[in-house]
Amino acid sequence: MNLKTLSYNLMDNLKVGFIGFGNMGRAIASGLLRKKLLSKEDILVSVKSSQHKEKLQKEGFNVLSPQEVVDKSSVVFLAVKPFAVKEVLNLIKDKFNSEKLLITVVAGLPISLYEKILGEEKKIVRTMPNVNVAVGRGLWGVSYNANIGEEDKTLVKKLLEATGKVFEIDESLMDAFTALAGSGPAFVAEIIDAFALAGVKLGFSRKQALEIAMETFRGTITYLQKKNIHPLQFRDTITSPAGTTIYGISKLNSLGIKGGLIEVIEEAYKRSKELGK
Ligand SMILES: NC(=O)c1ccc[n+]([C@@H]2O[C@H](COP(=O)([O-])OP(=O)(O)OC[C@H]3O[C@@H](n4cnc5c(N)ncnc54)[C@H](OP(=O)(O)O)[C@@H]3O)[C@@H](O)[C@H]2O)c1
Repeated sequence: MNLKTLSYNLMDNLKVGFIGFGNMGRAIASGLLRKKLLSKEDILVSVKSSQHKEKLQKEGFNVLSPQEVVDKSSVVFLAVKPFAVKEVLNLIKDKFNSEKLLITVVAGLPISLYEKILGEEKKIVRTMPNVNVAVGRGLWGVSYNANIGEEDKTLVKKLLEATGKVFEIDESLMDAFTALAGSGPAFVAEIIDAFALAGVKLGFSRKQALEIAMETFRGTITYLQKKNIHPLQFRDTITSPAGTTIYGISKLNSLGIKGGLIEVIEEAYKRSKELGK
């Protein structure tokens, strides 16, 4: 399929390849199937181990070599671990022509590395998904190389939005995105746990405390989104003079919780940069 015709019929006859079908590859494919953007016949998969190949074949997936996947697909997701990338790119480089689109989900590797091995004229999309793509509420940081046109971007967005929200970002912000959105869910989980522990300390059962903590977060986010207001405006509406909330907020600030959280994310950012060197 020629990607230049995509505006006419975005998904028609589209074959999407996956090199690597572990946590991330499978999560993306599941989203595409769940949203009925593709059927199993449109998906071509390559994995390493023979056991996994057999399992996928039993599930009805078309399992091929990396070269065959590239040959038969217009869009190829690269979802192997970083250490396997160079080997895979060298395997597929002869099949990967300028019409095809490579969407890499591999953390830490720059677009320039793909261009160096596949060729500077090739279409490369670097992404950073977070774990929540597995439940259809993920986040995607996405950077394009210079060969990606508007129609390619439309297609990429359509494919990625099957599992979450897409943010087009400058590649220089990938480490920041990794810290905020990639590690972010783990920080949120810690904060929810702190709320739940406080609930247990005040007398609730663990189950009830956790449910109350999670619903407090879910409800607050829903409120902010539905009313479209800034979090601090929302805070002021529930902070009555000399009431319970202002006492809690005063403590939160004297303990430096907000500044501390900013530092937590900065720390993850620094580590992401270090790992990318
Ligand atoms: N997991 C996350 O939350 C997350 C978040 C952001 C980014 N990422 C990135 O996503 C990438 C994949 O992570 P993952 O967690 O999905 O890893 P994973 O579960 O270990 O999956 C890796 C897959 O690559 C396959 N593979 C390895 N070498 C191959 C080769 N030469 N040819 C074809 N397939 C090959 C493996 O095959 P077998 O199944 O046969 O072993 C497996 O299916 C990583 O680069 C990571 O940086 C992951």
